[in-house]
Amino acid sequence: MSSKKIEPVKKLVGQMTLPGDKSISHRAVMIGSIAEGQTRVKNLLDCDDCNYTIRAFRDMGITIKKEGKHTIISGKGLRELKKPKSAIDVGNSGTSMRILAGILAGQKFDSTMEGDTSLSNRPMMRVVEPLLQMGAGITTATGGFPPLSISGGAVKPINYRMPIPSAQVKSAILFAGLYADGTTIIEEAFKSRDHTERMLKYYGADIKVDGLKISLKGGPELKGRSFEVPGDVSSASFFMAGAVLLQDSKIRIDGVGINPTRAGILEVMSRMGAKINVLNKRGMFEPVGDVEVEASRTKGIVIEESDIPGIIDELPIIFVLASLSKGKTVIKGAEELRVKETDRINSMKENLERMGARIEVNKDEITIEGVESLKGSANLRSFGDHRTCMAMAIAALTAKGASVIDDAGCITKSFPEFFDVLEKLK
Ligand code: S3P
Repeated sequence: MSSKKIEPVKKLVGQMTLPGDKSISHRAVMIGSIAEGQTRVKNLLDCDDCNYTIRAFRDMGITIKKEGKHTIISGKGLRELKKPKSAIDVGNSGTSMRILAGILAGQKFDSTMEGDTSLSNRPMMRVVEPLLQMGAGITTATGGFPPLSISGGAVKPINYRMPIPSAQVKSAILFAGLYADGTTIIEEAFKSRDHTERMLKYYGADIKVDGLKISLKGGPELKGRSFEVPGDVSSASFFMAGAVLLQDSKIRIDGVGINPTRAGILEVMSRMGAKINVLNKRGMFEPVGDVEVEASRTKGIVIEESDIPGIIDELPIIFVLASLSKGKTVIKGAEELRVKETDRINSMKENLERMGARIEVNKDEITIEGVESLKGSANLRSFGDHRTCMAMAIAALTAKGASVIDDAGCITKSFPEFFDVLEKLK
């Protein structure tokens, strides 16, 4: 798919389930591969990023098979991965590269990870620094960018205070900590998504979480498990916002992950005045619910720095919601958006301004003054970024007039079915 034309619609209506959560799917493949015995996962996300993680573990000798809706991972234990024949290519997947670095740091072999042009411009020192402290040998390209060359071996536990909130970095340290002799301690300033902690515990790791402090004792083998991946709340957020913004809409998304460290969008949308209801709360080690959303008149709010980790991937769609809400929305401390697949402050500002939105950026503080409506634009740009593309597709649905988004094929990174699901809700 190259460019995508989007005509405005009046409403979104329907009930659906969504493909599995991307973060949880990456972790399922990683933890399943280094656990002993079989892991059987239902609803693992089939997207470019997760497929890079699957390929990486296949290249390291792990058998991963699809059986209908299930993925079967034949885990070999913590230290039984084999040296890949060539450099591991993780494409555009920052999550694969950063988290895998922690696992590779504990292996008996040396390895190299590389990515595409966009990933090759994303910062890696945030993960390299703590792993160096743990005793791993890692080199990067000049400036701390990929490729990463990792000299695996003996790693030691560390006590690490996270300088930036990042679940990827936290997860890399925890994975390396599995290989260390002793207790690794991580302290966060703001809580980032805790999928790794929950899954490691479910697999039998010796891990304790006390507020913002996590302790993990290295050593014990993990045991293969079975579970279902909840629907991805980040993917859900696009349809939720569409339903809020389009008059007469009502949608229900069943089986969505509602982990409070991840699903801050539910709280933010409620605070903006969206009619949103979570029903039938359930789940194993990850909480799940059915989310019902109706068209609502929303208002601007203040989003604090401490809210950011819980909505980091939903900020592009929050830009859209805020642009069409009554009054002013202020977003503080969102500078991490600048180092995502693209600079998402720029990408969203540029696109939404083309549609008539009013957005001011002062360093890392973003102020969005709501407007009555957006106008269509034939020049929307995805910047090769899946979430910019999907957020702008929703903005375009609400607009007065048709829009065109360039390079819309990038959605396969996380949600290949996005436009098909959208079509069914119209
Ligand atoms: C992710 C963590 C976040 C998020 C990314 C997925 C994860 O990144 O933006 O899409 O699965 O751990 P950071 O760790 O850089 O905040």
